[in-house]
Amino acid sequence: MQGFGKPIYTNVLYPFARDKDEPYLQKPTLSGAKACDRLLMNPPHVPRTNPTGCYLRTFEIPAAWAGKSVFINFNGVESAFYLWVNGRAIGYSQDSKLPAEFDLTSVVQAGTNTIALQVMRWSDGTWLEDQDYWHISGIFRPVRLIAKPRLHIRDWFIRATPNDGKAGAVLRAEVRLKELEGYADYTVRLELLDAAGASVARAEQKQMLNPAGYAREESGIHFRLDIPSVKNWTPETPCLYTTVLTLIAPDGREIDFESSRTGFRRIEIKQGVILLNGVRMIFRGVNRHEHALATGRYVPREHMIREIIAMKRLNFNGVRTCHYPDDPAWYDLCDEYGICLICEADLETHGVGGRLANDPAWAQAYLERAIRMVMVHKNHPAIFSWSMGNESGKGPNHAAMANWIRYYDGSRLVQYESAHPEAIISDLRGDMYAQPDSIINMLADAMDLRPVVLVEYLYQIRNAGGGMYWFSELIERFARFQGGFVWDWQDKCLVAKDASGREFCGYGGDFNDDLVEWVSPTHMTCNGVVLPDLTPKPVAGEIKNFQSPIQLAMLDGASGKFRLRNRHQAVDTTGYVLAYKVLENGLGIREGKLPTPPAGPMADADFELDLKALLPAKKAGGEYHINFRVTLAQAAPWAPAGHEVYHTQFSLAGGEAITVQEPSRVAAGLSASDTEYRITGNDFLVAFSRRTGLITLCRKDGTDYIAGGATENVCRPQTGMDTNPHWGFYDLWLPLTPGKLSRQPGRIAAYALPDGRIHVEVASTLVSSASAYVIRNETGYTIAGNGEIGIDAQVDIARNFQHVPRVGIGLILPAGFETLEWYGRGPGENYADRKGHTLMGAYKSSVTDQHFAFIPPAECGGHEDVRWVKLSNPQGRALLVESPAPFHFDARHASIADYGNAAHDHELPRRAETFLNLDCRQAGIGGNLGWSTALDEQHRVPAGCYRFRFDLRLL
Ligand code: GAL
Repeated sequence: MQGFGKPIYTNVLYPFARDKDEPYLQKPTLSGAKACDRLLMNPPHVPRTNPTGCYLRTFEIPAAWAGKSVFINFNGVESAFYLWVNGRAIGYSQDSKLPAEFDLTSVVQAGTNTIALQVMRWSDGTWLEDQDYWHISGIFRPVRLIAKPRLHIRDWFIRATPNDGKAGAVLRAEVRLKELEGYADYTVRLELLDAAGASVARAEQKQMLNPAGYAREESGIHFRLDIPSVKNWTPETPCLYTTVLTLIAPDGREIDFESSRTGFRRIEIKQGVILLNGVRMIFRGVNRHEHALATGRYVPREHMIREIIAMKRLNFNGVRTCHYPDDPAWYDLCDEYGICLICEADLETHGVGGRLANDPAWAQAYLERAIRMVMVHKNHPAIFSWSMGNESGKGPNHAAMANWIRYYDGSRLVQYESAHPEAIISDLRGDMYAQPDSIINMLADAMDLRPVVLVEYLYQIRNAGGGMYWFSELIERFARFQGGFVWDWQDKCLVAKDASGREFCGYGGDFNDDLVEWVSPTHMTCNGVVLPDLTPKPVAGEIKNFQSPIQLAMLDGASGKFRLRNRHQAVDTTGYVLAYKVLENGLGIREGKLPTPPAGPMADADFELDLKALLPAKKAGGEYHINFRVTLAQAAPWAPAGHEVYHTQFSLAGGEAITVQEPSRVAAGLSASDTEYRITGNDFLVAFSRRTGLITLCRKDGTDYIAGGATENVCRPQTGMDTNPHWGFYDLWLPLTPGKLSRQPGRIAAYALPDGRIHVEVASTLVSSASAYVIRNETGYTIAGNGEIGIDAQVDIARNFQHVPRVGIGLILPAGFETLEWYGRGPGENYADRKGHTLMGAYKSSVTDQHFAFIPPAECGGHEDVRWVKLSNPQGRALLVESPAPFHFDARHASIADYGNAAHDHELPRRAETFLNLDCRQAGIGGNLGWSTALDEQHRVPAGCYRFRFDLRLL
């Protein structure tokens, strides 16, 4: 980040090149047989060339520290370092995401001291840190000097547990002192303060001098206090107390103080269900790498606050610290704002699978990473579970970690995911990217009754995240399905520069990198729910709505019966405002507030609305909807009063059907040249090329409305489903992409109909250089003299294509058609499997705003269930498109081919024209809760013959 060395992004691979003669590579066979990549690796060796940072600087020790113990604490240094102070060798550390603390007492003096650090990019610890992330090394978290009295409080562990079934709680504290001569004569005072600073409990204890046995409680200093009444900690009610420990010398002097915040909560599993304070827990979580665009691994606290506020506003209540322990500041914020944490050990060996987990030589290193993590972070109420790491296969080394932790800290869960670990390793099943079917199968497995919480789900890459509607459905149906953690929080880009020095969001391969990931896409760092600047991606709205702790259902539209489901863990509905709006053909006609139905935590409340009184006399052709919004009545620390937590819409019975409007019969004229057909009417002209059968000009009253089209469309810009070669449907859909597919015109004919309108018939074939199969099109245009154009299309896709991204037509509008209005789903983009949070309505936007700057550029701006769409220019001239059936459209300033050619947003042209794509059907965006390449049958567009109609009016 500071110009030393280059970042390397890898997912599965170790960041070590394969084509080298290096000890980190081995030859598992001498016969020349091709061995799996994992066996070529030769831990613990690292590259001979090891980029090393040498730091030298001075620091001051105040005179007042004389006689004290002095420590230095490095919060995070990657991957390993040696330390010298005043020329003396002090020590070495690795395990880069946990603090390393050294006792400097004997080497420092008052005044100026010298410190030297040698930080190596590679160490044997690198073999345990093969996460899907950038490899960037250095000192990336704060470094602190600490002075303590020689005899001091060395460690403490607070467990604050509400009683089961009765009021009150038990506070336990285990305190360890620096055991210098006479330490047992010292007393420790414990005081528990509430949020206002008032004392709640106080006690004093000394070291036990005559332990009766050998048990844990018989060494150290132990407190056990009964507290008659406490406010519990939950992510919804993050009530914090403060535990203050004071060390009192035999002469009564208070010589050392420590404190930590304490939250009372009880975590347990009963009948296969995780309970928090006795209530079923629902994890609405997200995986968070520690990352900031400008500073990489170093994340300033202000950035963390912005992150946590954004998460709370999206209804997240949990974070998995993927895939290592975080900066301590993050745990403090989670305690305060209410985010429950899976705290994960810094342990991933993806590139060698489970080899090290089963190697006794590595057991010590595994265990150390677990123990150190627990010892450092154990006092944070936000942590509900300890994770043994990620993607390292499974083995006895994991079992050792899990059971050390279980014995030491019975107040939390332990978990691990890779290779379907048994109960001895994990208290829960976390199968990443399980789709609804396999989740249901897991729950039906009578041999394994552990709770299911997906450690990763709803994978985001390019534009993805379909199928979120399953989430609330499965949670509602199965008590043992308790949610999951979305992959992942933010796009982890670094600032890169193009040839002209312009900055952009870079991903793998953008830094002249020494090694470029080849197993996975280089942009696989960009899997976030939010962009690098924390702007929510379109999927965020869907996630927010489906994980809202308040949900509404319509029980009976005719009688206006609805149900509110309160899926809060700890709070009732009094803090929320419920408002409604009735819409007629997408426009609000009545709105108001309702008394919020009172429902306790995890309870339902039914309510009724007098819809007859609310609805006007229904119009013929009128469509009616009712929208509900749930907002915060009062400000929360993470959002102002009025912040919307949830919205939804229900469709109400419509008015009488209208008789279909007869198309205009104004006669038009037809003339033909060698190259063109010209159809003319009242100040109106449309020209078709006789070579291509496409419109070349469409002019009315001096305004040009169409510059090209209508081309038959079966392709769209890439999504998460086809983001890279050999990925998802990429190979299947490749023959359909602009570079491969060409349109071959067939028979083109024009003639006058008996009613005077002109009919143009265009046959064409879409032929692919990458496929033997074709798509046959017949498109008929019926044109009236007033400029009404009916387009009847038939697109017949050879069945061998299996399924396609879309079926529709594309029009190009000349510059100026920028104002976009439509009646359909909005205001944000939506797709068949990701439309739950978008509501039917009449919306206004601009073509420019339809583009969303995904990294890399991706399909965006789609709208489902559309009744009409209108594009206008500044002079008020407009093209209106309607269809007898609801349709899908997008309108952007770049063509599908442009999107395919741009690797970064700044490479995407912004053309003056508007590209309007009108589909009778478009595939879902993919995901189905799982990996982005999953697309269930109902959201596919199977190959076959499609007939559809669009009516164009020039206004
Ligand atoms: C998971 C892995 C994550 C990340 C994700 C894909 O398998 O645990 O670290 O690699 O896939 O981006």
